[in-house]
Amino acid sequence: MVGVFDSGYGGLTILDEFLKLLPQYDYLYLGDNARAPYGTRSFNTVYRYTKACVRYLYEQGCQLVILACNTASAKALRTIQQRDIPGWDPRFRVLGVIRPMAEAVAGCTKTGHVGVLGTQGTVLSDSYPIEIHKLWPDLKVTQVACPMWVPLVENGEYDSPGADYFVQKYLEELLNRDPAIDTVVLGCTHYPLLMHKIVKYLPAGVRVLSQGEIVSQRLQDYLQRHGDLERRLSRGGTCRYVTTDDVDAFARHAQHFMGRPVTAACWSGEGLS
Ligand code: DGL
Repeated sequence: MVGVFDSGYGGLTILDEFLKLLPQYDYLYLGDNARAPYGTRSFNTVYRYTKACVRYLYEQGCQLVILACNTASAKALRTIQQRDIPGWDPRFRVLGVIRPMAEAVAGCTKTGHVGVLGTQGTVLSDSYPIEIHKLWPDLKVTQVACPMWVPLVENGEYDSPGADYFVQKYLEELLNRDPAIDTVVLGCTHYPLLMHKIVKYLPAGVRVLSQGEIVSQRLQDYLQRHGDLERRLSRGGTCRYVTTDDVDAFARHAQHFMGRPVTAACWSGEGLS
């Protein structure tokens, strides 16, 4: 199976695109809703939670896990890849969502000025500027943390008038800091749910990159280049959902993300507190 992990519901925006582009594989989605949001947690806490969740997906039979969470990609991916996987199973793979976005930005900006919106954890980690500058040293990257956006989405408030206030606030902050920005990366998998409001408050001509499509195309490329891994993935076209919190609440919220009914099982998250 392909495991898809997020702190909560946001990773469903990535999973949805995987199901459109690569429907042949079997997917197992894990949302650590009991501990979401991750965005304000320390490096060590995000690493500990993410590692336990990745381990769970591995034990369920996933050969590949996508951290469909920028915060986990920023704070836990490298350590899991370097420190943990070699001891578990060197053939097992874990990939994140930041590198694919860094690869994509240069093809989108004309001014060379890029904005990144993310959780506090993602922004403070500087993962986006670091990854972008490794590939495109001349791009100017400005980041703004949007700590209210994940709670708005997790609580189903993304359509409410209250959400407009916080969407406008963070976008204004970004463009005040660099008015030449013409490309904005939504560096959190929850943010596509706010897309209609984000577009409303951005000047015409500013392009918004959301991760689902970009990450799914990069995954397709990756699997074409890694035939040994690709051949180990099962092809039943199924998708299962697991949450560490209440299954009914998960099903209710997940339906908004997926646009269809979803049923979930519960994993209590042993070893996590
Ligand atoms: N959706 C996640 C991300 O992409 C996590 C948000 C959070 O848990 O704070 O960063």
